[in-house]
Amino acid sequence: MGFREDFLWGGATAANQCEGGYQAGGRGLANVDLAPLGKDRNAVITGQKKMFQFEEGYTYPAQVGIDMYHRYKEDIALFGEMGFKTYRLSIAWSRIFPKGDEKEPNEEGLLFYENLFKECHKHGIEPLVTITHFDCPMHLVEKYGAWRSRELVGFYENLCRVLFTRYKGLVKYWLTFNEINMILHAPFMGAGLYFEAGENQEQVKYQAAHHELVASAIATKIAHEVDPNNQVGCMLAAGSYYPYSCNPEDVFKAQQADHENYFFIDVQSRGEYPAYALKRLEREGIQIEMVDGDLELLKNHTVDFISFSYYSSRVSSVDPELLAKTSGNIFASIKNPYLKASEWGWQIDPLGLRITMNNLYDRYQKPLFIVENGLGAVDIPDENGYVVDDYRIEYLAAHIQAMKDAVELDGVDLLGYTTWGCIDLVSAGTGEMKKRYGFIYVDRDNDGNGTLNRSKKKSFDWYKKVIATNGEDLTNE
Ligand code: BG6
Repeated sequence: MGFREDFLWGGATAANQCEGGYQAGGRGLANVDLAPLGKDRNAVITGQKKMFQFEEGYTYPAQVGIDMYHRYKEDIALFGEMGFKTYRLSIAWSRIFPKGDEKEPNEEGLLFYENLFKECHKHGIEPLVTITHFDCPMHLVEKYGAWRSRELVGFYENLCRVLFTRYKGLVKYWLTFNEINMILHAPFMGAGLYFEAGENQEQVKYQAAHHELVASAIATKIAHEVDPNNQVGCMLAAGSYYPYSCNPEDVFKAQQADHENYFFIDVQSRGEYPAYALKRLEREGIQIEMVDGDLELLKNHTVDFISFSYYSSRVSSVDPELLAKTSGNIFASIKNPYLKASEWGWQIDPLGLRITMNNLYDRYQKPLFIVENGLGAVDIPDENGYVVDDYRIEYLAAHIQAMKDAVELDGVDLLGYTTWGCIDLVSAGTGEMKKRYGFIYVDRDNDGNGTLNRSKKKSFDWYKKVIATNGEDLTNE
């Protein structure tokens, strides 16, 4: 009963949301650097507004992040103190290849991550590395149109070969693309895609998705060749769709909405384009250009495990009245009247996590890994930076209980759980610091004020206890 003995408890971050140091160590500019704080952020990350350089009048939170580039030792020590078994982080591509298309990597960037991984091991922490978490060097965006170009497959392959070779023995868990399905919803942030007026955007997105899927298969192939101990996962922005009603049309609509997301994982895990996707692409006149050997690569190099983020379930309906009432999430979803929501309108549904886990495990029969889950909330620290975040403990305890039920009662094979933003960081959706997920408070506000000092919240000791008891004690005492 309970979680496996070697269950990988930990936390997760992404380079562009925490590292800062955007010009340090020879790093090149990336798409994620250009996502501003505030009202135009959504237009930029969804590819509706072109912003290829820093503009007057905007704040760009990724430039400083939480300055983890300079403070990672302190942060990893705190993760170690909580008892983390794993720490999920991402590589900033433009630290390794500042422009993206160079032949030789940037040694300073490679050394930065080498030191960081060694620091993790010093604290008994196994790194879990996302190769790309929304980032793409700007040079690749401007010269090649990012993932719309087939050439990106080769550049990504070079990146992967360098990473797997250099970090052999230091890293064994890899994720190829964070939330690969985000390409459909936030294509500039997801894949560096920007559209010209009148362009068939769906055509561009699915062609770019094909390039990412092939690149992911090549990465899996190389990872296994370089070190048979390497374990490679795909990564889905998950959360099953519920039909708003039992009207069969609502049920069908929800199934279609799930298909849109499963498509990516179906290819990465089963190794072929699913029939429903081929039919849909054909119906919509979307033609995917493939190169000889692509289908074999996809078939022969499927992922070892399925990782995903889960914040909420989603709801779908054919009723246009209901559709108009979508909530603020990047994924369109109707408000579920049975659920409460966070301060940012994200609906809270722990049982939905168990449902999602069952759906994914039924479908793929491969081990799952929950690599993001958490509550973005406003925290109010006292004069010592201490936050009584009972709301966060309540959220996490309910979700851990649900995943425990999925393991114990439903038999789902789960490798680990990393909470999102284990240390406060910049929000991907809004660019705010105010939306905090961490066990560790970081003194910095939306306007860039603050000392960047770290302090423990109440949830710090709570999570430490959860890990120490392997998830048996979830009480808030
Ligand atoms: C996921 C991303 O979509 O959700 C993270 O992988 C992101 O990068 C997280 O931070 C939470 O979203 P937000 O908008 O609250 O930061």
